[in-house]
Amino acid sequence: MLADINIICLLESTTRAIGKDGGLLVSFKEDMRRFKSLTLNSIVVMGSTTFYKDLKGKPLSNRLNVVLTSKLEVDNLDNNLVLLNMCPLKVIEFLQNTYSDKSIFIIGGESVYKQFIDIATSLYITEFTDPSLIGDRFFPVIDKNIWLCVNCEESNNLLFKKFNRIK
Ligand SMILES: NC(=O)c1ccc[n+]([C@@H]2O[C@H](COP(=O)([O-])OP(=O)(O)OC[C@H]3O[C@@H](n4cnc5c(N)ncnc54)[C@H](OP(=O)(O)O)[C@@H]3O)[C@@H](O)[C@H]2O)c1
Repeated sequence: MLADINIICLLESTTRAIGKDGGLLVSFKEDMRRFKSLTLNSIVVMGSTTFYKDLKGKPLSNRLNVVLTSKLEVDNLDNNLVLLNMCPLKVIEFLQNTYSDKSIFIIGGESVYKQFIDIATSLYITEFTDPSLIGDRFFPVIDKNIWLCVNCEESNNLLFKKFNRIK
């Protein structure tokens, strides 16, 4: 059986935009705090664009950073950084076998969300509304036949939603 696979994302509710020019569209302190508290001591899986452009090649502290890339070399191999060139199922199998005690969070970007949404078990989505912010990367549509919203909290114009897979 596969491990629980959590996806976490901040998106614009009208367009589903998540980023532009390799960076976030916008960030919110409250969302960053929530992201940190949910992912702390877990495995965070991301694409190389998110790692090198968004995070500027700096691993998130107190988390095992897994970067998906076909270019398996890095200047400073940190002990909380792992580079993998694998399909989603192989990534999860590897992480489950190697770090069985840790939760797994898929943290983006677009290409990684698209690859993992079909095997994910939970989605942690923060929504904000500002369609004037034009993005060039997007989150997939959340199919209501597959995902049930089990929690929704509003705070400072942000909606924090949790979805569980129902089929
Ligand atoms: N709003 C949010 O919550 C959020 C979160 C994260 C990111 N973002 C945004 O999303 C955007 C980046 O998304 P993106 O789709 O352009 O890039 P990405 O998903 O971060 O990275 C894509 C790259 O990762 C590598 N890769 C992906 N899957 C792989 C696999 N299975 N095996 C090996 N390599 C793999 C490939 O690069 P190489 O093989 O060439 O290395 C691919 O070009 C940025 O704007 C970022 O700010 C938003």
